[in-house]
Amino acid sequence: MKVLLLGKNGQVGWELQRSLAPLGELVALDRHSTLVDGGCGDLNDLHGLRETVLSLRPDVIVNAAAHTAVDKAESEPELARTLNAKAPGVLAEAARAVGALLVHYSTDYVFDGSGTVPWTENAATAPLSVYGQTKLEGERLIAAASGRHLIFRTSWVYAARGANFAKTMLRLAQERERLTVIDDQFGAPTGAELIADVTAHAIRQALRDGACCGTYHLAAAGETTWNGYARFVLEMARALKPDLAIKALEVAPVPTNAFPTPARRPLNSRLDTSLLRSSFGLNLPHWQHGVRRMLAEIL
Ligand SMILES: NC(=O)c1ccc[n+]([C@@H]2O[C@H](COP(=O)([O-])OP(=O)(O)OC[C@H]3O[C@@H](n4cnc5c(N)ncnc54)[C@H](OP(=O)(O)O)[C@@H]3O)[C@@H](O)[C@H]2O)c1
Repeated sequence: MKVLLLGKNGQVGWELQRSLAPLGELVALDRHSTLVDGGCGDLNDLHGLRETVLSLRPDVIVNAAAHTAVDKAESEPELARTLNAKAPGVLAEAARAVGALLVHYSTDYVFDGSGTVPWTENAATAPLSVYGQTKLEGERLIAAASGRHLIFRTSWVYAARGANFAKTMLRLAQERERLTVIDDQFGAPTGAELIADVTAHAIRQALRDGACCGTYHLAAAGETTWNGYARFVLEMARALKPDLAIKALEVAPVPTNAFPTPARRPLNSRLDTSLLRSSFGLNLPHWQHGVRRMLAEIL
């Protein structure tokens, strides 16, 4: 089996390089990849992307690349639209032409964040930001291409590699006695490792049983706020590394509007994952499980 991975160096892309490797021949590209590396991996080059799929003829395409800078997207909507909507649309058309399964990721930001009930896959979408809007357009273009696909909407993604919220909290907690962290956005921090492992499992099942193609919510179990997440990070850091010089004595709760940003974020990012769990026979671990592992790795 041949698997084409786009966005190999992102949080999820990096973990996919590990989890997809056992499936077969893996061609992993990033935005700088050219024909010499096995194909064009730049989502901004729609012609190059199409040609890459048509010439490689992979069995599976996994697109982990995206315009993920949520605030920046507000001032560069056309670039966000090309990367988050047009490119996935081109990949979906090309995937159908060669009979490949397309795996793509979307976001809780397709919802407006109202209410307190976890969003199901068929709940009404109403993005608040350019990022959310363009990701939704990407989902629609993939569905419109009518090929075999899996779209995983996930939330609050973190990874040990690169910058992340937990690392920022650990740094600030060593500099300040008081942190202020938002406590009115609810969701589940979801590890890139978990997303990559679920993806590999789902690909195997989808290739065996095409009936499970479609859109699924993929997030760790449980829920918290950014404030609860920060407090858990500091509590674990104290337990895992008692000699860490943490000064912060308080993580004060503040509302979202205390930190104005160009893009609006949904307050309710809870995702109902029942469909994914029942369709693929999976158990999704509690968010604290993955965050504890990530902290053990970085501390
Ligand atoms: N992060 C989250 O909290 C979150 C939440 C919900 C859903 N998602 C979705 O999950 C998926 C994976 O996200 P992630 O957290 O792994 O994001 P990430 O770490 O920001 O990775 C995105 C990757 O896309 C690449 N990229 C940017 N522009 C590109 C271009 N023109 N051509 C090719 N690649 C390009 C980036 O490359 P460079 O490193 O070179 O910039 C980066 O490697 C995305 O679809 C995202 O929308 C993420």
